[in-house]
Amino acid sequence: MTGGMLDPAHAKARRRDRRVYLGAHPLLFALLAATRGRGVRRLGGTMLVHDADAYREALTRLPLDRTAAGTTGGAARAALGGDGDVLFDQEGTGHRADRRSLAGRLGSAGVEELRSLWRPLPVRWSAPPAGGGEVDVVELAREVAGRVAGALLGSDADPPALARAAARAAATSVRSHLPGPPRPGAAAAAARAAAGLRELAGAGDALSSMVAVAAVNTTVAAVPRAVAWCADAGLWEQAADAELRPRLVAELLRVTAASPVLPRVAAAAGSVGGCPVRGGDRLVLVARHAAGAHRRDPDAGDPAGPEVARLVFGAGPHACPGARLASVLLGDVLEELAPYRPVVTRARVDRRAALPGWRSLMVRAGV
Ligand code: HEM
Repeated sequence: MTGGMLDPAHAKARRRDRRVYLGAHPLLFALLAATRGRGVRRLGGTMLVHDADAYREALTRLPLDRTAAGTTGGAARAALGGDGDVLFDQEGTGHRADRRSLAGRLGSAGVEELRSLWRPLPVRWSAPPAGGGEVDVVELAREVAGRVAGALLGSDADPPALARAAARAAATSVRSHLPGPPRPGAAAAAARAAAGLRELAGAGDALSSMVAVAAVNTTVAAVPRAVAWCADAGLWEQAADAELRPRLVAELLRVTAASPVLPRVAAAAGSVGGCPVRGGDRLVLVARHAAGAHRRDPDAGDPAGPEVARLVFGAGPHACPGARLASVLLGDVLEELAPYRPVVTRARVDRRAALPGWRSLMVRAGV
């Protein structure tokens, strides 16, 4: 398997992974697939941005309205009950100061410290692996993400319960921010979920809550999808190899693009990929296509390279501060599972989550 172009060995992995989009957002997925032939395309007041350079340009050069409804900033603010700034929605000096404080917790020393929360990994086989035992990788991701969220919030709430509350807060807030006719009850459901998270966590300011929500939702989406791909495409040899593993991790995060679409709003006129943009235009920045997830299979022997792979974490001053944490955690999960050469036995799509992902992903030892 070389070259990175679509390879038959990956067809099964790709087919299964597509289910997470088709299960929850079939129309959006079809629209984005149908329009990706052109790097940037205008549909009324909305710009669809697929091209890597245009995507980078939109995130680094174009002034963005970070509090507009229907954007990640607007949804994050709503998810936390609107009390205080939540990073996604910030600009300038305040944003830089909060990013600096986060860099300590999520930089290399901080991640090394957080790592003790999940080592040894709480992998719970339903019976001995050799006797046909199974593991639910979603449950594993939820347990670990809940522990990380608890540490970031200074809360000792039950980790899986915290993770579920963070998932509910994100899902209800995204639903209440979807474009289209107003959904009766959606805002109230989002407010209830936000209050539920705050009550359960019992601690933490708006910033910590936002980081915890981001950590949980991305981890619970990304880790099981990456494990399923690794299993379906037979990549456990690469996962077992300490030298190849970091590249495999970057490649799996690239092709699964856990946050596949970044909804943004232009704050002022400008241009993206040579196309004029007006203030107030909606931008649908397709991280999945910018990173080439749809056309280049993951290959640790011939990776796409950091410039492209990193695009799944955004770009510019708001680029994801949790990228290192996500990569280290996925590497640890792959290392732990690799000796068993797991195969997927059952996978159910989560139709309600904020990010496309599995509701359960059962694997059993393949050796
Ligand atoms: C595979 C896992 C992850 C993916 C794909 C991902 C993706 C993203 C993306 C695309 C953005 C928006 C960047 C932009 O606007 O340019 C973002 C922002 C953010 N992410 Fe992540 N993320 C992941 C994991 C995490 C984790 C584990 C944490 C926390 C520990 C985290 C915390 C954040 C925060 C706080 C922001 C907002 C940053 C800002 O606006 O300044 N993310 N992430």
